[in-house]
Amino acid sequence: RDLPEDVDTDDCMTSYTHIYSPDLLKHGCDTVIASRNLEKLTEAAKKLMAATGRRCLPLPIDVRQPQTISAAVDETLKELGRIDILINNAAGNFLCPAISLSFNAFKTVLEIDTMGTFNTSKVVYEKWFKDHGGAIVNISATLGYRGQALQVHAGSAKAANDAMTKHLAVEWGPSGVRVNTLAPGPISGTEGFHRLGGNRADSMGAFSSIPLQRAGNKTEMAHSVLFLASRASSYVTGHIMVADGGSWLTSAND
Ligand code: HXC
Repeated sequence: RDLPEDVDTDDCMTSYTHIYSPDLLKHGCDTVIASRNLEKLTEAAKKLMAATGRRCLPLPIDVRQPQTISAAVDETLKELGRIDILINNAAGNFLCPAISLSFNAFKTVLEIDTMGTFNTSKVVYEKWFKDHGGAIVNISATLGYRGQALQVHAGSAKAANDAMTKHLAVEWGPSGVRVNTLAPGPISGTEGFHRLGGNRADSMGAFSSIPLQRAGNKTEMAHSVLFLASRASSYVTGHIMVADGGSWLTSAND
């Protein structure tokens, strides 16, 4: 099997073989990474700058607080001068049966995943994409396709985001904004994989029910996101792209 390189930790890869043209993102790519934890962000930004030789600006935001997004977008435009791509990947998830899920727990996940995606998209659109175009890539999940157990909160949130992808693609297409979504399956070396018991599932042979017989890796997700974020997909908008090795088609709902 010819898989792209990956690392299982939160470190950058030491070598990488391009599968797209290295100048796919015309001017290279400076990045902003944003989350609630500035300490973790600063460490990640240092690693990314060392690995890429490009700028990486760590900015604190809580996607539930629109004013923190506004401040971060203002700072980005001041420091980097433009925004071409927005990746909405803030999410909160845990396994919990509906009967045990508190009202606040359900609301919290909807607020992070769904409102967070709307808040961030709206601020970036208002402040930059409206006049310059751009590409939005949302990170979703396939949980709601078959109504997976213990996931009513995340599955409902991601289903709303998939609808949002289409609504915003239709409304913002005329401004040159493409809005697409990637729905990954189980991806090794991620928080989601760890929380949902991926390593244990792997060693128990649970992945034999997946058509491609394995978990995906982070580099494979990066390649899919890069497709949706770049001019490789210049006529694609409002699309939900599943990259899960065929998992949701066959995996048991338990
Ligand atoms: C049941 C839980 C819970 C759990 C929290 N809650 N964890 N209920 N089981 N394991 C409840 C709390 O009791 C509280 O309700 C409410 O949720 C809010 O919790 P807080 O801790 O106050 O909220 P907050 O600090 O904002 O944290 C949000 C969070 C947290 C989602 C609960 O886990 C988080 O911040 N996660 C971010 C990182 C993350 O989840 N990464 C994984 C994403 S993986 P009460 O009623 O007590 O007030 C992913 C991929 C999925 O999304 C792929 C699937 C294949």
